[in-house]
Amino acid sequence: MPEEKNEFKVELFVKFLYPGIILKGDAYTYSGDKVWDGGTPFTNEIIHDLKEQGVVKIFYTRSKVAQKPSAENPMVSPQTIEKAVDISHEIEHAVSSKSIIPEKGVNEVVDGFINDVSSSEGTVLNLLELKEYDDYTYTHSINVCLISILFAKKMNYNEKGLKIIGVGALLHDIGKQMISKEILNKPLNLTRDEFEILKKHPIFGYELIKSQSSYGTLIQKVVLLHHEKYVGKGYPFGLRGEQIGEVAQIVSMADVFDAITSERVYKPARPYWYALSTIKKESGISFAPRLARAFVDDMPKYLTETEIFTKGGFVILNTGEVGEVIDYRFPQSLKPVVNVFINSKKEVVRYPIPINLEFDDSRNIENVVTDERILQRLNEIKDKILLKKEKAQYVPELEPEVIAATEIKPEEPVEIPAAIIESAQKPEQAQIDKDLFIDNETDLK
Ligand SMILES: [Fe+2]
Ligand SMILES: [Fe+2]
Repeated sequence: MPEEKNEFKVELFVKFLYPGIILKGDAYTYSGDKVWDGGTPFTNEIIHDLKEQGVVKIFYTRSKVAQKPSAENPMVSPQTIEKAVDISHEIEHAVSSKSIIPEKGVNEVVDGFINDVSSSEGTVLNLLELKEYDDYTYTHSINVCLISILFAKKMNYNEKGLKIIGVGALLHDIGKQMISKEILNKPLNLTRDEFEILKKHPIFGYELIKSQSSYGTLIQKVVLLHHEKYVGKGYPFGLRGEQIGEVAQIVSMADVFDAITSERVYKPARPYWYALSTIKKESGISFAPRLARAFVDDMPKYLTETEIFTKGGFVILNTGEVGEVIDYRFPQSLKPVVNVFINSKKEVVRYPIPINLEFDDSRNIENVVTDERILQRLNEIKDKILLKKEKAQYVPELEPEVIAATEIKPEEPVEIPAAIIESAQKPEQAQIDKDLFIDNETDLK
């Protein structure tokens, strides 16, 4: 079956099919026989038949979803990623059959990632490739693993530290396998009770790792504490600051970055600038300030080759001012030079002001204008003012539509809404080995 531009092929090993799995397209064997309809749950019988016939792999094609910026020089080899996906299936199988987590395979994958990331001069992390696999939990865990290793490397972690962070990140959401897909796929409409169940996944994960692997306390700690927040408002325990430790915070930041920039059933993928701005805003709230600063300053150039804000694009500042991105010190900067031509009172100014945001701590980019009609109007206004196409003292007035579109609005939540989090029960009392929380993060750098 020829692959069209807008589609790509997703491969699946028959041994990992399970009754009830639904694929987004019709499934074929490599000899071209159609085996099952897309959108219909697989039955026990068809899986059995495929195995009987000796079919090892099937595939389906599906349309592309919004993707993360691509990398021309990918940091991670496709082979390592293939292996990571296979291992993720094996982990899932181990959890459901209550058998031992395939540590050898997990370690090999993490070693492969560390190796690729360590020899990464001039390359960009290829999170994009993971979109080819149609299961969020795998792609998310692998992405979080890659981002965590890369960030930890930049934070000078040694081999041992990278390994712990990598394994912890790959397994961070393993406890979600104990929670129904129904809850996992609707975090914007969760009831309070459902949220209470979801909040248990770090503890479920911790218990799984304790009972079904020989991984040590630091890896257990990453899994258990990846939803704790710096100010103490996270879960399961509401630990604060240094109690959480750095390794869990690194994975937590990678987790938030990937959650925001990934498409889910209930939300589109958000751009990199938005995820980075969120991490910056969460500095001192969710994340230790020095970690958040390092992430925002150092990571973008390894995450994307493309500009964070497009030159020539229009942005809205926290002051309400509107301007055009005209320059930047390096393309992945969150602080470009912006030529402001609409002031905070939504008046078009006579003389635009170029502001280098890097030297202006009081101004930040709050939003990017994407509406075609508004963009067109802003371009017209900019031409009139900036290029002085119309002489004299003519200053255009903004239409209500333009004013409304350039207002700073609170963003739609991308994960669990604050109201549900606020109404949630107090954090659990730790029934867990206190040794996990003592400062055990030595010899990792
Ligand atoms: Fe999680
Ligand atoms: Fe996660």
